[in-house]
Amino acid sequence: MKDPAAAGRTADDTTPDDAAPDGTPPAIEAVDVRRSYDLGATTVQALRGVSFTVAEGEYAAVVGPSGSGKSTLMHLLGCLDRPTSGLLRVGGRDVARLSDGELAELRNREIGFVFQAFQLLARSSALENVALPLLYRGTPRAERRRRAADALGAVGLDHRLDHRPAQMSGGEQQRVAIARALVGEPRILLADEPTGNLDSRNGAEVMRILEDLNATRGVAVVLVTHDGDVAARARRQVRVRDGLVELDTARPAAAT
Ligand SMILES: Nc1ncnc2c1ncn2[C@@H]1O[C@H](COP(=O)(O)OP(=O)(O)OP(=O)(O)O)[C@@H](O)[C@H]1O
Ligand SMILES: [Mg+2]
Repeated sequence: MKDPAAAGRTADDTTPDDAAPDGTPPAIEAVDVRRSYDLGATTVQALRGVSFTVAEGEYAAVVGPSGSGKSTLMHLLGCLDRPTSGLLRVGGRDVARLSDGELAELRNREIGFVFQAFQLLARSSALENVALPLLYRGTPRAERRRRAADALGAVGLDHRLDHRPAQMSGGEQQRVAIARALVGEPRILLADEPTGNLDSRNGAEVMRILEDLNATRGVAVVLVTHDGDVAARARRQVRVRDGLVELDTARPAAAT
């Protein structure tokens, strides 16, 4: 419990703790979230009670040693996974109350996710890869193609619409993945080591694109990085260790 007034609150309570003054819930709110992996003989406690809020328009870098729980946290925030316990609200919705289908729909609407290894469909063109989230949404084909082309234009790839992933450089593939994350106009973009497979020049270009999207479109960005320079450029730094948030510059008093 955060304070005496919160006594008696349950995870079912519908009023978020960190709502903005106008009552808008934070983009993502996690309270005492835990995630353990049951391996039969043993259980790995990957997250051991993390509270974490992503506000509208935020730009945060998550750092920490290998195995500390960064990807586990990102997968939870991105609705790619569910907590073992704790409260997780995305776009004001308690994910524990959603069916798998509803969770997928929430993810599709609210979240763009960029992976270290791009995760593009090998046999599909850049345009088809980027249009995919809109296909799941039922957007008509002509609009899908128009919006996918716009998103690819926004990452400087107008000239690569028909290329398949193997026909593009690593930096281009990651820009396609960013376009795919953006095409549905999510409020939140989560990126797990987006520059991890890129050389420094392409890495810098990807970072420039993410910073620009945050500045010009107000998309909240949370990214995991091992690069100290990248982390230092973010407005907010979050350090994870042993499944706990050890430091969060947005919550200096709560980093215990
Ligand atoms: N599917 C899984 N089953 C069992 N254990 C897992 C699984 N995924 C992750 N873990 C364990 O959970 C812990 C946290 O893993 P996680 O991938 O979140 O770390 P990370 O901070 O992203 O590390 P890295 O910097 O190497 O990517 C690790 O001990 C890992 O071995
Ligand atoms: Mg990881």
